[in-house]
Amino acid sequence: AQDPRIAGISSAIRVIPDFPKPGIMFQDITTLLLDTKAFRDTIDLFVERYKDKNISVVAGIEARGFIFGPPIALAIGAKFVPMRKPKKLPGEVISEEYSLEYGKDVMEMHVGAVQAGERALIVDDLVATGGTLSAAIRLLGTSLLEYQSVKSGFVICMVEQMESNVME
Ligand code: PRP
Repeated sequence: AQDPRIAGISSAIRVIPDFPKPGIMFQDITTLLLDTKAFRDTIDLFVERYKDKNISVVAGIEARGFIFGPPIALAIGAKFVPMRKPKKLPGEVISEEYSLEYGKDVMEMHVGAVQAGERALIVDDLVATGGTLSAAIRLLGTSLLEYQSVKSGFVICMVEQMESNVME
């Protein structure tokens, strides 16, 4: 049976047809943030699922992973690592390119933010093609393999979709 909180979360996410372009059903989480119960329930569901799972890193994907990631990180006792658009992070970074519908984008993360063997939870608001999430997973792997030179090091990525009608 589905958790009864999920229906409330679903209905708090506003769906805007044809935004930002025709054919896209935009899942607008700003209305969820206005609903204190739905927002809290959202964070609680993730915290209940991922606490006591030895996760030490919550990696948030710009931009909406920066909204949902930090409260989850604090509640499960993990550090928060931002995965940013290019040229935003001031320290040494590693980059991953990924494809968009038209063209490419790049995601960056600070070197040294994640250590070999850490378990990471990647947080974003939704998955469409999966390109963004794949880049985030590669970024975690690359950060260990190329910059820490730990061949056996690995990060287990726990990923989850949070969309208006998909949660399980
Ligand atoms: C959206 C969404 C995900 C990504 C999913 O971000 O928040 O990060 O698209 O799409 P994909 O699975 O096809 O890669 P967006 O590109 O709107 O960037 P923003 O959050 O910085 O506005």
